[in-house]
Amino acid sequence: MEKAQYLDWNNSIQILKKAYEAGLFVLIIGPKGTGKTSLVRDFAKSMNANLDSINFSLRTRESHLVGTKTLTDGTVSFDEGILIKSMRQGDLLYLDEINSAEADVLLRLDEALDDRRQIMLKESTGEVVRANQNWFVIATINPLTHSGTKELPPQILSRFPVRIRLEYPPENIELEIIKKHVSGVNDSELIQAIKLANTLRQAAAVEELFYSPSLRETIAYGKLVEKGMSPKEAANYVFGNVYTQWGNIEYQKVSDIITSMFGN
Ligand SMILES: Nc1ncnc2c1ncn2[C@@H]1O[C@H](COP(=O)(O)OP(=O)(O)OP(=O)(O)O)[C@@H](O)[C@H]1O
Ligand SMILES: [Mg+2]
Repeated sequence: MEKAQYLDWNNSIQILKKAYEAGLFVLIIGPKGTGKTSLVRDFAKSMNANLDSINFSLRTRESHLVGTKTLTDGTVSFDEGILIKSMRQGDLLYLDEINSAEADVLLRLDEALDDRRQIMLKESTGEVVRANQNWFVIATINPLTHSGTKELPPQILSRFPVRIRLEYPPENIELEIIKKHVSGVNDSELIQAIKLANTLRQAAAVEELFYSPSLRETIAYGKLVEKGMSPKEAANYVFGNVYTQWGNIEYQKVSDIITSMFGN
């Protein structure tokens, strides 16, 4: 489904390659929908690396990473988790939203991520698993301003000494990115939506609004217009209606902005 190529507008692939060659793990910091996941996928493809991903939440357990004991026909065996598999195979391990993980999970990760790159399987044989030399780890975090995110302990932060910041791109670049996903729509109609998105992002940044639209929204708007919807209508469906979640006053504020930019 995802045919569009990643537009490497701030040279992130180059930085990832240098970090990879130097064996330095990378942390990508950026708000939602700024292209973190697409960047990592594109990097994995360009390196011909096998990508293992895990998306952290409060429900992620150590067993997801390390593995679980299973009982088949009376024999107990150990089903290795994604961390152990990726270490053995020398894969690229993508730890998405690592700052949503619980402390005990992070502690276990910490063991594998330190300079020895090894972990003891205390839950099975006690074997010490050493990572294949190609093993590489990239993690992402959302900035702390995002609800539900926790501060990443300094201990874990220090395991990722290369940090890439991804922000919302400048207008002309966002236009190029949208055009990788959408064709046959006038630039001017796309730019209108980018300007609207930026207005809403700025208002959210100073806490005048509760929600900040991402690249996902400007792309969605483009796709609706591509299917024949009017820009004003697409703007309402994609950018406006979501604010109803915070009540009518919030919605009305945004609705007025849309009317002033797109007409009645
Ligand atoms: N530089 C880019 N080139 C092409 N497409 C992009 C780029 N940046 C973002 N996109 C598109 O924007 C959308 C959101 O990107 P992506 O899912 O990678 O963001 P994310 O930062 O991982 O978001 P989240 O924090 O919500 O997981 C996707 O459809 C992606 O294809
Ligand atoms: Mg993502």
